[in-house]
Amino acid sequence: MTKPFPPISPKLPVLMHGADYNPDQWLDRPDILDEDIRLMKLAGCNVMAVGIFSWASLEPEEGVYRFDWLDRVLDRFAQEGIYAWLATPSGARPAWMSAKYPEVLRTEANRVRNLHGMRHNHCWSSPVYREKTAKINSRLAERYARHPAVIGWHISNEYGGDCHCEYCQSSFREWLKERYGSLEALNAAWWTSFWAHTYTDWSQVESPAPHGENMVHGQNLDWRRFVTHQTVDFCRHEIEAVRGANPELPATTNMHMIEGVDYRKFADLLDVISWDAYPTWHEHTSDAALAASVAFYHDLFRSIKHRPFLLMESTPSLTNWQAVSKLKRPGMHRLSSLQAIAHGSDSVQYFQWRKSRGSSEKFHGAVVDHAGHDHTRVFGDAADLGRSLGSLSGIAGAPTPAETAILFDWDNRWAVKDAQGPRNSGLHYEETAMEHHRALWERGVPADVIGSGDSFDDYRLIVAPMLYLCSEDTGRKLEAFVERGGTLVTTYWSGVVDEHDLCHLGGFPGPLRRTLGIWAEEIEGLYDYDRNGVSIVPGGSGRLPELSGAYEAREICELIHAETAEVLGVYTEDFYADRPALTVNRLGEGSAYHLATRLGEDFLNDFYAGLIRTSGVKPVLGSELPPGVTAQLRRGEEQDYVFLLNFSGEERQLELDGHSYTDAETGEPVPKKLTLPVNAAVVLSRRTNAERESGQPA
Ligand code: GLA
Ligand code: ZN
Repeated sequence: MTKPFPPISPKLPVLMHGADYNPDQWLDRPDILDEDIRLMKLAGCNVMAVGIFSWASLEPEEGVYRFDWLDRVLDRFAQEGIYAWLATPSGARPAWMSAKYPEVLRTEANRVRNLHGMRHNHCWSSPVYREKTAKINSRLAERYARHPAVIGWHISNEYGGDCHCEYCQSSFREWLKERYGSLEALNAAWWTSFWAHTYTDWSQVESPAPHGENMVHGQNLDWRRFVTHQTVDFCRHEIEAVRGANPELPATTNMHMIEGVDYRKFADLLDVISWDAYPTWHEHTSDAALAASVAFYHDLFRSIKHRPFLLMESTPSLTNWQAVSKLKRPGMHRLSSLQAIAHGSDSVQYFQWRKSRGSSEKFHGAVVDHAGHDHTRVFGDAADLGRSLGSLSGIAGAPTPAETAILFDWDNRWAVKDAQGPRNSGLHYEETAMEHHRALWERGVPADVIGSGDSFDDYRLIVAPMLYLCSEDTGRKLEAFVERGGTLVTTYWSGVVDEHDLCHLGGFPGPLRRTLGIWAEEIEGLYDYDRNGVSIVPGGSGRLPELSGAYEAREICELIHAETAEVLGVYTEDFYADRPALTVNRLGEGSAYHLATRLGEDFLNDFYAGLIRTSGVKPVLGSELPPGVTAQLRRGEEQDYVFLLNFSGEERQLELDGHSYTDAETGEPVPKKLTLPVNAAVVLSRRTNAERESGQPA
């Protein structure tokens, strides 16, 4: 039996449904709170995130606090059975604060301090900002930490960005001293002997700047690591101010797809991970590619703590900040929302509950439109989803088991892009990771998205595309993973630099060379219009029968030598012709595959069909999935919840495998042959398979 995770809040041990609620926009309209509560119940909402940008309403003057409006909201919620993620307001500060203490404002990389305005415009290091934040947070905690409606802390909002003020410069230097111990060690790690960049005093060390130092890769990388460190430290500071009043209350901070912050570093600090998803649906006839990339992010955020997360924000209809804002077509609201649940979310929440009347987000989708009533398409979609989440509430806490992982590190992501290498016009790291992930998603193979600090023990298949930055430690871990029987996939541009962004000497892929059994001698970028190809070598013991003929190759070609590896495919063009392009190395009980060039969807589909078979990874369904339809799994105590999600943009037919299935919402038996209309999302349940449970291949 699989044990579910304990509920995120014991007060609300079901799937959560709700929105950001910003009632401080409507304080002169007391009728609106009553109407909102009526509508919330009508939409099946049980939770709201309150007070996210409320600092000016909570502390209108320095040291003068006003809680009456928030008392009113939370007390009404408590009476009506609606719960609240109570926010700390540090995402935006009141004007009086910026005016009196300009140091709270952020200084950009050009060393110019911003004016008051916008949001997220604050310094992570400013003692005044920290003091003011601790004060307002502890006031909120004293008053509300034991309020019956409050289920947890929503710390700030979408932490991100960096500050280059003097406080931040000196914190950076302190962080570096701690990391390197001496200037000599710092100079060595940053390879400053090149271009006479050697530092002779700590005071000379600064953050990267567009008009100053920006070419030292090790320094750029350390600055990004420091920014993460300082952001996490700020978050810790915020949490410390609220914790004391009720240590039981869980804390989260809503994340976004921000590249500049390594969210894994929040794992120990937060009780639950939450994120904000805003995909631009309906850009193409088929939403499958986009859906697969959203799935990648759901998998990534879930894997930070390896437990259920929260979809803290999404739009009930459209956004208003993207280039083109399309409405969700019929079915898409349910489909995209259940997609989050399928990948391990225990909530579907929106930005925002009621549309603003003015300012920058007045046209952003909301559950309640300017019309002010419930007779809208969007309200209807939200209410329908509320009913579904109600009937699926048993899913809350159910794990999402995965035997496959994509290895995707933030510092690799930063280093790859900073590399000044063979293809500065684009190496497409994220896209490549997502393409590999998509091939698994199309087959209904659940995947975690992990970092090299995670344990590799529970996986059968690890895909580590473009692991450019690979430390000796990570190399050893991957080697041990393969020796124990795992299947590893790597690509070109792997094992090139260590954790300081210094090239591995003695032959690439450095710490992966023994595992992969190859030597990567040279690498080049291709122009967008250049093509090469990979032709599959017939015969051979390592041959995957799913691969045949030739596949188109582009963007990057690596010239590799097979040392102990077997050659499965060779280049077809240019002076590369007949040289290895696809290899497999047997090591211990396992296998390590290497793709020396960027291959397309056709190759990845065939390749992963082969690897799923040979690695023993189990797809969610024993039967074939049509293109653009995925199957994902949440494992309940006695039943599996199988999500069938049709993102293909077309009606699809599907034949279920030999289990007997019921509709998890209605309890009705489900026929073996299913028709999935456009944008259909079906949740089925089946008895948890004992064989699957034990993790043994059938
Ligand atoms: C972000 C923010 C919200 C809101 C939405 C709009 O995710 O956290 O406050 O601005 O975007 O899509
Ligand atoms: Zn600063």
